[in-house]
Amino acid sequence: MPQAKPVRKAVLPVAGLGTRFLPATKAVPKEMLTVVDKPVVQYAVEEAQEAGIEEFIFVTGRGKETIENHFDHAYELEDTLADRNKTAELRALLAELPNAGNTCFTRQQKPLGLGHAVWCARKFVGDEPFAVLLPDDLMIGTPGAMKQMIAAYHDVGGGVIIAAEDRPREETKRYGVIAPGAVKGNAVEVKGVVEKPDPAKAPSTLCIIGRYILQPEVFAELGRGERGAGGEIQLTDSMAKLIGRMPFHAVRTKCDRYDCGDKLGFLQANIGVGLSRPDIAPALRKIIERLL
Ligand code: UTP
Repeated sequence: MPQAKPVRKAVLPVAGLGTRFLPATKAVPKEMLTVVDKPVVQYAVEEAQEAGIEEFIFVTGRGKETIENHFDHAYELEDTLADRNKTAELRALLAELPNAGNTCFTRQQKPLGLGHAVWCARKFVGDEPFAVLLPDDLMIGTPGAMKQMIAAYHDVGGGVIIAAEDRPREETKRYGVIAPGAVKGNAVEVKGVVEKPDPAKAPSTLCIIGRYILQPEVFAELGRGERGAGGEIQLTDSMAKLIGRMPFHAVRTKCDRYDCGDKLGFLQANIGVGLSRPDIAPALRKIIERLL
């Protein structure tokens, strides 16, 4: 089996309007809402860094400038921390910064759908495999979801890898759903994908979640601009055209997933991540018990 090309770049589509989370997302991008003490977008970047990804392409939109600022120096803050001898805090802030020149920000001028947002990154990705991480899907696990997916990518000889999760049948109309084939270790062959099918028509209950490893061939399909479910340019529809042309697998990651684009999912993320943090877990547990 020839060695698959390494995955060096990640696309983070962060141009969505976050209408399910209004009014919180009127002036603050949903990707900047914090889970415990970090914006959700930072969790996604750290997950990709852990997987060996070096370059980050953010597809943003109007009103999302704080995301760009978050991944840059904040000189006044850094000076003040230094003056006050808050060395640990300063060191942590600096360690989190991506290397100079390794991030770029482009705009999706109209929110035409996830597929269109990914297509907007095509010039920055070029002709190589790339990861896509949707920050609202917060994935917590060791190793992280993207690291597990990149391991599977090399095991099956490259191609496309999508993260998947079994969901109750009544939820298929909220997800892209997989028609599964043969199982190969941690990966399941993908025979077909359908965006948001009715439960009665869904090919399975194995649903696509917000992590992908894609090949540059997907850009030609996305470039046709075909509208799918909800009138949006869907990533699932263009990915489906690659089935049969290259290896195509789904991976059930061994991670906890929190849907931070949804109010309840976001609350659950704060509780779940809080309870996993030794510095605050004992006090948080007591607070929850008292509230119940
Ligand atoms: P969602 O459908 O969850 O995002 O898209 P949304 O449209 O912001 O959410 P609601 O339904 O209005 O609350 C999943 C991911 O795709 C990005 C979003 O930012 C999110 O990361 N996205 C979606 C774009 O970048 N552009 C789009 O046109 C649509």
